[in-house]
Amino acid sequence: MIQMKRVNKIYNQGKNYEVHAIKDADLEINKGEMIAITGPSGSGKSTLLHILAGISKPTSGEYFFDGEDVSKMSDISRCKIRNKKIGIIMQDFGLLGDDTVIRNVCLPQMISGQYNKAIIEKAKRMLHIMGLDDVVKKKVNQLSGGQKQRVAISRALTMNAKIIIADEPTGALDKQNTEKLMRFFKELNSQGITIIIVTHNLLVADFCPIRYTLTDGVIKRIAS
Ligand SMILES: Nc1ncnc2c1ncn2[C@@H]1O[C@H](COP(=O)(O)OP(=O)(O)OP(=O)(O)O)[C@@H](O)[C@H]1O
Ligand SMILES: [Mg+2]
Repeated sequence: MIQMKRVNKIYNQGKNYEVHAIKDADLEINKGEMIAITGPSGSGKSTLLHILAGISKPTSGEYFFDGEDVSKMSDISRCKIRNKKIGIIMQDFGLLGDDTVIRNVCLPQMISGQYNKAIIEKAKRMLHIMGLDDVVKKKVNQLSGGQKQRVAISRALTMNAKIIIADEPTGALDKQNTEKLMRFFKELNSQGITIIIVTHNLLVADFCPIRYTLTDGVIKRIAS
């Protein structure tokens, strides 16, 4: 499903403040796997996830998603793949603060022109599972950090994505909500959804059968 070959990401290349954030990453992820990526702050985790999700392009190397070379695609093609196939939960949530919870959850479908009653119903079901019935019509900037995080999760789960990519999805959640979410991810994974999670939380990593670490831009698989 996913193949990275010698992927590098260099920010501000050629300037004296350039950062080599991902170094020669080789990564193969098969359909139906559930993966945790851990590593210190600044080690390149979000950078890697942004490449995996098609939000940013590698500086060099190849990245294949479902057999297509994403690293050579136009911005528009990459956007389309992301919008249809990848549910991403961003570290900073990526929500529109001035808009309502329900509209934020349905945003990908609004963008791709697939917004309809069935999507609204599904969004409400996901918000219910995430314990957010009370805030469906509230504006996002009136919510707590943990509520915002659960809105971002609801949005990714409403997409029918084949793959969920999550950047610290439990960073703002308490232990009870963390365990609930991980059990839900496990259930999705047993239905064949591929799940990739970046986390500092060992409890979260423990739910994932396959683990990688990132250290100073270098990714390594941990023997399990
Ligand atoms: N847009 C950017 N422009 C320049 N440098 C960047 C940019 N984004 C990240 N970096 C740098 O790349 C390196 C990796 O950052 P990244 O955000 O991927 O780390 P991280 O592992 O996700 O950290 P954290 O655990 O704190 O979220 C850091 O040195 C960071 O300063
Ligand atoms: Mg990060």
